[in-house]
Amino acid sequence: MQIIESRAELQVWSDGERAAGRRVALVPTMGALHSGHLSLVDEARQRADRVVVSIFVNPTQFDDPKDFEGYPRVMQADLAACRAAGVDVVWTPRADELYPEGAASWVDVEGLSLPLCGGNRPGHFRGVTTVVTKLFLAARPHVAVFGQKDFQQLAVIRRMTTDLGFGIEIVGGATVREADGLALSSRNVHLGRKARGQATRIVESLDLAESMLARGERSTATLLEAVRKKLEEATLAAIDYAELRDPESLELVGDVIEGPTLLAIALQFEPDRTAGEGAAKADPGNRVRLIDNRVLSPIPSPTN
Ligand code: PAJ
Repeated sequence: MQIIESRAELQVWSDGERAAGRRVALVPTMGALHSGHLSLVDEARQRADRVVVSIFVNPTQFDDPKDFEGYPRVMQADLAACRAAGVDVVWTPRADELYPEGAASWVDVEGLSLPLCGGNRPGHFRGVTTVVTKLFLAARPHVAVFGQKDFQQLAVIRRMTTDLGFGIEIVGGATVREADGLALSSRNVHLGRKARGQATRIVESLDLAESMLARGERSTATLLEAVRKKLEEATLAAIDYAELRDPESLELVGDVIEGPTLLAIALQFEPDRTAGEGAAKADPGNRVRLIDNRVLSPIPSPTN
């Protein structure tokens, strides 16, 4: 496995692979890799001859500098995980190369970036689309893999890729979960014991909405009321959003569910003073925001 820091070196490597007729896949990450990230590597390997994983904690997508500074950085463990997963190249770009002195250029996707995670995190998606553009330009992949866990991010990146004509195939990888259903996230380690127990309310609320829909419930208000009630059982958390939206346009759905509908949830856990080992470190400033989603379908597909 090669570890490349320089952007120019990565471009030369990628051009060489392309010239030799090999397909290159890119899996962009911010490190602190878990099996969710590694499932994207597997997905990438099935679609390409060479897999590049980029590891870069991107400052421009954090609205809170404390969140950026506190983001886990475990490069040695990440490199070992990539090696074990059969990654060909790990690219660890330098911040001053991706954002040179005086950097003033941005890529902004209008519309899709505004609701949900864009609502309370202004500028977040502008940071994501700008850095992903820079990653695409350097790695020049044929295919890039992103997680469906970050549904809106995936939608925004698909839009950007089409609009800017990158000619890169964008693949969405399924969400990998803990045994109790909690979506894997590098933020889970910051949850105290009690908060971790309550965090399963998120996936339980997705299950609840799905089963209500399967039993014939079609009222948006009724579904959202039940989802919110379930989420409110997580007494250490505040609901950031719980919304039903069109999975393509991300626009709010009407009063009645008529087709595939995205249920998107964000819960913000307050610092948990009961924090156990390795959790929140009883840091009273350490909030943990967790997101999850599911596309609900009122018509059971013939394969189910
Ligand atoms: P990061 O949070 O490190 O996530 C990297 C990729 O892993 C994203 O595509 C994300 O959707 C995916 N992922 C996270 N948890 C997952 C899970 N439980 N199952 C499957 N996939 C999962 O997302 C980012 O980094 C950044 O915004 C980035 C795209 C790298 C731009 O900086």
